[in-house]
Amino acid sequence: MRSYRINDLADLVALAGNWEISRWTGTIPHPYTETDGLDWIAKVQENHATGRPSRFAIALKQTDRLIGGVGLDGSTGDGSEEPALGYWLGQPYWGNGYAREAAAAIINYGFRVLSLETIRAHTDPGNAASQKVLLACGLKRIGEIELLQPTHSGERHAPLFRILRHEP
Ligand SMILES: CC(C)(COP(=O)(O)OP(=O)(O)OC[C@H]1O[C@@H](n2cnc3c(N)ncnc32)[C@H](O)[C@@H]1OP(=O)(O)O)[C@@H](O)C(=O)NCCC(=O)NCCS
Repeated sequence: MRSYRINDLADLVALAGNWEISRWTGTIPHPYTETDGLDWIAKVQENHATGRPSRFAIALKQTDRLIGGVGLDGSTGDGSEEPALGYWLGQPYWGNGYAREAAAAIINYGFRVLSLETIRAHTDPGNAASQKVLLACGLKRIGEIELLQPTHSGERHAPLFRILRHEP
């Protein structure tokens, strides 16, 4: 996991521009333009310049090529200010455990480096792959939230997941 670089732009636009990614997220525009990509790269670079970054690119260890994104300041869905885990992975890279690896790493970073007390996440009710990732990373399904904005599939409620720094 690292910051974004300007030479990630082509991969970012191609991967994040896939409807199979944005349909499950509330925040990735569709269609995804070069300007969207440039804005996002600049935002993440600013976030890294603070010295306490909360958003990262996911890149393959062997090639350093961009394959996705992960962050702890994702949308909470219901207006809560609790740190919220969010991630996406380019479709050609699905099914290799990369999302689980990246989510587990950023949770560890959030607790140990950012000293967060809790991390939450929510998903579209139909997003079974993402729910598996969250449960595999130790989050527990604790209920449901009412969404401020319906999901792309028109859902107005979403399952809520949470992990505590110190589990009771
Ligand atoms: C969610 C996402 C990141 C998962 O990426 P991934 O690399 O396939 O995830 P992993 O390989 O770490 O694990 C996915 C798990 O879900 C399972 N899975 C995949 N598709 C599934 C489906 N349609 N139904 C049920 N399980 C599914 C996989 O078999 C795997 O299970 P396992 O841990 O038992 O092997 C990826 O699908 C994605 O980017 N989706 C679009 C954006 C998104 O949904 N972001 C999250 C918003 S909450």
